[in-house]
Amino acid sequence: MSKPSAIVTRRWPDECESRLKQLFDVTLNESDEPFTTDQLKSALQSCDVLMPTVTDKITADVLSVENRKANMIGNFGVGFNHIDIEKAKELGITVSNTPTVLTDCTADIAMSLILMVARRVGEGERELRANNWTGWRPTHLLGTKVTGKKLGVIGFGRIGQAVAQRAHHGFNMEILFWDPFDISSDVINNLNAKKLDTIEDICKESDFVSINCPATKETLHLMNAERFKLMKKSAFVINTARGDIIDEKALVDALNNNEIAGAGLDVFETEPNLPDELKTLENVVSFPHLGSASIETRIAMGNMAIDNSVAFFENKDLPNKVV
Ligand code: DGY
Repeated sequence: MSKPSAIVTRRWPDECESRLKQLFDVTLNESDEPFTTDQLKSALQSCDVLMPTVTDKITADVLSVENRKANMIGNFGVGFNHIDIEKAKELGITVSNTPTVLTDCTADIAMSLILMVARRVGEGERELRANNWTGWRPTHLLGTKVTGKKLGVIGFGRIGQAVAQRAHHGFNMEILFWDPFDISSDVINNLNAKKLDTIEDICKESDFVSINCPATKETLHLMNAERFKLMKKSAFVINTARGDIIDEKALVDALNNNEIAGAGLDVFETEPNLPDELKTLENVVSFPHLGSASIETRIAMGNMAIDNSVAFFENKDLPNKVV
């Protein structure tokens, strides 16, 4: 029996590319250059399964390409806001994602941002590398203590809970959260967490506001000028979810006007481009979307995307079906 044909839009870890070669008649992207819209369309016309990732904008226009052959999209990544899921559903295209395997690493990056921005670690390292460190002194680079502070988590799903787990059990932080869904009492009790009624309450009460909700129409610019104004002047905002959940212009204004103490960001509205201020302000720590970037996690993500696609062609239930 011939193997299904697959097109993979970016380089994957070697282990995963070897497995892809065994299981599929696969076209890999040796150059690792992101696909253009036309390349995405022609990929959908020429393969059985497309394996894209966050850098591929799989819009309604792309999905509606004439003579589409692919009926399966095995996304490499948990987030699927770059794919028009409603259109995929309407056209009968199956879409899968890669949840759970990146929870720990993404939560680790959120914790790194909390610690780096509060304790001014980036500033310190830059000073040292520039040969500007003149030695220890009692008032040098005084930051904000993290242990025991209030962490407000917006979106208390797998990743939000994993951030809270680290913050509460590792740093004795008090956990507040907001989520539109019911959260099990076991989880709440384990973290001694308190559910607040509104996002406004989270903004007012927290020392750190961590964004951990998915990017949807409802969460677009969820953190806006009004909500930054509600935050304590001493508080920090942390984002490891998706860039457009924060209105970046409003964030830059809030930082410039000292309405908040700082920001720790792993995701941006129009990656890889971000406002200069988010690269230059001393009280901002910005990472280049590193949440899931450990070798163990990226291999697990690739294997999960492969397993989903294999299940599709074997007519089995997909382990991680989105639609
Ligand atoms: C994810 O899996 O959603 C990561 O952010 C990379 O896309």
